[in-house]
Formats: sequence, structure tokens, C-alpha cells
Amino acid sequence: MDLYEYQAKDLFAAHGVPVLPGKTVETADAAAAAAAELGTAVVVKAQVKTGGRGKAGGVKLANNPDEAREKAEAILGLDIKGHTVHRVLVTEASDIAEEYYFSFLLDRSNRTFLAMASAEGGMEIEQLAVERPEALAKVPVDPIAGVDKAKAAEIVAQAKIPAAVADEAADVIVKLWETFVAEDATLVEVNPLVRDPQDKIIALDGKVTLDDNAGFRHPGHADLVDQRTEDPLEAKAKAKHLNYVKLDGEVGIIGNGAGLVMSTLDVVAYAGEKHGGVKPANFLDIGGGASAEVMAAGLDVILGDPDVKSVFVNVFGGITACDAVANGIVEALKILGDGATKPLVVRLDGNNVEEGRRILNEANHPLVTQVDTMDNAADKAAELAAAGA
Ligand SMILES: Nc1ncnc2c1ncn2[C@@H]1O[C@H](COP(=O)(O)OP(=O)(O)O)[C@@H](O)[C@H]1O
Ligand SMILES: [Mg+2]
Repeated sequence: MDLYEYQAKDLFAAHGVPVLPGKTVETADAAAAAAAELGTAVVVKAQVKTGGRGKAGGVKLANNPDEAREKAEAILGLDIKGHTVHRVLVTEASDIAEEYYFSFLLDRSNRTFLAMASAEGGMEIEQLAVERPEALAKVPVDPIAGVDKAKAAEIVAQAKIPAAVADEAADVIVKLWETFVAEDATLVEVNPLVRDPQDKIIALDGKVTLDDNAGFRHPGHADLVDQRTEDPLEAKAKAKHLNYVKLDGEVGIIGNGAGLVMSTLDVVAYAGEKHGGVKPANFLDIGGGASAEVMAAGLDVILGDPDVKSVFVNVFGGITACDAVANGIVEALKILGDGATKPLVVRLDGNNVEEGRRILNEANHPLVTQVDTMDNAADKAAELAAAGA
């Protein structure tokens, strides 16, 4: 999960990394009030999960509360690289003597962590890496040894951060490492890390990616999820622990096993070309043990998608045999009752397939059509979706 700048800086502050005071608001009036409360010149900053906000007009200086209202008005609602601005951070304006770049990240290719730092911050790091690679220090970090003051001093020296602030910068880097480890982040980036005229080092921007696989260790991280930008169907699926991704087609997809579901998406997209260009509406892998409850939960999410016109249930019986899956489907339809409203095409194959098909035939549910092969089932589901659209 990527965090907003204000969330990243809240984490920094909790770990002792110097940041400037500020407040996140959703209206221009609240921005003016926040500026009045801070009582200084402020910077109004778009909170969107993309970089280059400054260049896009999403970061503006305001000398007083009225200006803050004006700037917030201009920034709220702005589209920055496809992200609509719903919130702005109103934060103290800093005098900047120098801008540095700093990050810790997971270096997958070398199976370790990496610190990247440069005395030439501010500009986009991709550009710096291409144009002046010698100005960007890359220092591997041993995950066991971590970053102590001596290691941080080594990074500071390689980045050519001036001696006058080297000690302070090293202290901040140690705290950024503590943030990276304690929060189970895969990225902590500060661009710019600034030196102010009093030689204080401050994180003026912040980008943090948290490792969702470590979420169970951080109950507090759930609060960082932005409900507004999360798709409601994906949120519902997540609450039911389903592996679901919303797509923009009309054929709902349920399968067991990520590989099977991926190929089902391909087959449905291909079949859809013959039926007015209908497409898969989602990815949903219900995994190995497809109990009736899981099948019902999956169907419930998919049927809740107004774009879905038909559903393709594609199951290969393995450890969970086809008869168990067939019973799951029958039970799921009972659980959903009148909630099940769209035609279902079911293709069963694999372990105990005969018994599975018999169970579905016997149940004879009006919405269910059985088709024996994956290609034919995809074709049928696409045809029904096109008819229902
Ligand atoms: N609090 C602040 N005080 C003064 N200048 C700021 C402040 N925050 C950002 N800036 C300036 O705006 C630039 C862009 O802001 P930044 O937070 O880095 O956004 P982005 O990286 O998305 O463009 C910074 O490089 C810095 O020069
Ligand atoms: Mg930045």
C-alpha cells in the first residue's frame, strides 16, 4: 500500500524524523483556517499518490490565510496524472538552503536493501539517475546489520552532503531506517530532504510504501487505507478475504487457482470478440477449498457489480473435488436466494467430475447452465452477457 505524503510524514514524526507542522483539509475554507492556526506562510500541497505534484501545479506557497484559501481552491479538484485532488496538506513554508534526495528501498535483484542518496535533490530522481548517475550514491544495506550512525555517515559521505550538516543528516537517516524497519516498509523516500538556513535537516516530502504481507503485524495500518479511492466491490471482497480485482467488462469470473482464473480471463476476452466485444468483469480466485460459504461470498460480490450480465464459474477439481464444488454452488444459490439474478455458466472438470455434474443437473437451478469445456463455456457466458447487456 502506498501512502499519501501526510500519512508518510505522520509516520516519520512518530519515529523522530523532523517534519514541519501541518494539517490536512478538504475545503478551501478549512485551508484558510489551518493557515491561520499555523500563523506562518504556508505551502498548500495536493494529496495524491503520484509524484511531480509541484510541476503539475499541486504545490503552492501562500503568505496568509486568504491566499491559502485561494490556492486551495485552485488545487482541490485538480487532476494530477489521473488522480483527482480531494485533500490538501497545509503546512508551514520552509526556507530552503539546499535540497537533498534520500531513500531506502527493497533491492529485489540483489536480495537486499538499498540506500540511495544525493546532495542534488529536488529534481526527479529518475532524471538524476540518467543525467548525473555519479551524483546518486547507491549503498547496499545489510538487513541484519541495518543502519547505525556509522553506516549513515558512510551514506552521507558518498552522497556528498556537506560536512556542516553531515552529522545531523546521519541522525535523520538512522531514524528513517528505524521507520523503514518498524513499519515494515518496502520504500521510504524523501525528496526533498532539505537543509534550512539554520542547518536543520527536515523531511519536506515523503513517500512510503508499506508491505501488505506484514499487515498482520500492524493493526494500525488498516486505518491508512483510503476508503474513498478504494473500489467498493474490492473493499467488500477484501472484507470477505477474497482475492478479487475489479475489471471493466460484463462477464463475472470465478475460478479456483490464480493460473486458471488468469487463463479464464483470456479465454473470455477472446470469446467476447464474437459477441459484441464483451469482456471479463473481474478476477476472482476462490482458492483450493471452495466451500459453499466462499462460493456464496464470491457470487455475492460479483452479482453486486451492476456491470455484470453473466457469470462464468470455472472450476478444476483437485484437492477439493468437483462434487464438493457443485454442492458449494447449489448451497451458495440457496444462501443468495432472490439475490442471485444473473445467468451462471458452470464448467467443472477434474477430480469427481461426473458426480459434480450430476449434482448440478439434479439441482436443476433455472439460472445455471453447465458446459463441459472451458472454450465452450466462455463462449456461452459471453453470449449470455451480450444478450443481457
Ligand atoms: N513546506 C514547504 N516549504 C517550502 N517549499 C516546499 C515545501 N514543500 C514543498 N516545497 C517545494 O515544492 C517542491 C515540490 O514539493 P514536493 O513535496 O516534493 O512534491 P512533488 O515531489 O510531488 O513535486 C519541493 O521540491 C520544494 O521545493
Ligand atoms: Mg517530492
